Amino acid sequence: MPRLPRLEAPGKYFPLGGPVPPEDLVGRERYIQASVERLLDGQNLLVAGPRRIGKTSVMFEVLRRLRKKGANTAYVDVLGATSLRGLGERLADSLLQQQTGLARTMEHAKAVASGAKLTAKVRYEHIELAIELAREQNELKFFEAALELPQTLASRAKRRVVVTFDEFQAASRLHPRIFDIMRARLQPQRAVAYVFLGSEAGLLEALFTTKSEPFYRFAVAHDLADPTGHRFGIDPEDWHLYIRKKLGARGITMSEALVDDLLDRTGGHPQDTMQVSAELYYFMRDAGVRTVTTQLLALAYEQALRELERAFALIWADLGKQKYQQAVAKRVGRSEVLFQSTAELPRIEVLRALDAMRARGLVLRVGRGRYEFVEPMFADYVRRLDSAMMAP
Ligand SMILES: Nc1ncnc2c1ncn2[C@@H]1O[C@H](COP(=O)(O)OP(=O)(O)O)[C@@H](O)[C@H]1O
Ligand SMILES: [Mg+2]
Repeated sequence: MPRLPRLEAPGKYFPLGGPVPPEDLVGRERYIQASVERLLDGQNLLVAGPRRIGKTSVMFEVLRRLRKKGANTAYVDVLGATSLRGLGERLADSLLQQQTGLARTMEHAKAVASGAKLTAKVRYEHIELAIELAREQNELKFFEAALELPQTLASRAKRRVVVTFDEFQAASRLHPRIFDIMRARLQPQRAVAYVFLGSEAGLLEALFTTKSEPFYRFAVAHDLADPTGHRFGIDPEDWHLYIRKKLGARGITMSEALVDDLLDRTGGHPQDTMQVSAELYYFMRDAGVRTVTTQLLALAYEQALRELERAFALIWADLGKQKYQQAVAKRVGRSEVLFQSTAELPRIEVLRALDAMRARGLVLRVGRGRYEFVEPMFADYVRRLDSAMMAP
């Protein structure tokens, strides 16, 4: 198939990678409303699931709506912190931003604590808590004090405070006892609700459901995927409306049958669906074509698969860390007989590998002895690994 010239990298008109703006957030309305209500009730939530399914996007929207209702919110990406102090600073900065209007309140507070004058824009009472905190030299004490900030703020401002820790499992690398330290501080905070997001579902679930673990029962799991509904929790109808409207706004028409075809190919996986849609839009635009055809969709799919290769390669490399997982993954990808015992692949290892891949949200059981990848495009990637198709 010929490759059409590419004039502009995709990803702007159909946003890709990272949280999407509210107007591009497809589906999830009931999930968002339920989250807002639970958090206003003071319930702590756990949202565990693989990368690229929209955890961060949906939580940004939840926090936006909570602010509209008068709550104070904070969002902390734990992966971005490299020390306890750094994590504490991120929490304080995000929490105080609504009051001070500064992106980095702590830097400002540090300067004031060491003698600098307040700038005219910032009111002392808004930065007071940060200045107190900035005076703390001991890293652990600083971190603990930062963890108290949400509750202090809540009682002073008489507001509900909601704090989100994204990629929460990554906190483990900052301190050997970080989860004990955090639980002890967060537990008594009555006016604060916490959301824990993370892509290492196995680790997170263990942390929150094992009796001996510090976060045992601290939050209620609120999965994006609805076990009785759609695989990724987004109604295909919502994708139909969004894709056709978004293309339509640029004068491009796509038949319902072709949108169905697109959704079949992506399985409705959020980022994969956006990726194919983006490729399609830019192909159409660059070629000056106004009606989507089967051929153009196929071309967009191939390009999207190439763009996703790096993300898929990471998953594949991760599977390589356990001895039998890649071999079992290939069987799953090709829909081969799974449990056939061979010298290289004993049955017990097949079971173990399947369990591990299920716990990570990669693989789904679809019947007796039948499994498939949650993400059809990843399955396609795996099938093509042995052929030359994925070679650059
Ligand atoms: N509800 C959604 N509507 C539209 N696109 C989405 C949605 N959820 C995820 N995406 C797509 O997936 C990408 C990754 O989303 P993100 O929120 O960063 O996922 P996660 O936090 O689970 O890794 C987004 O940039 C967007 O392209
Ligand atoms: Mg995320």
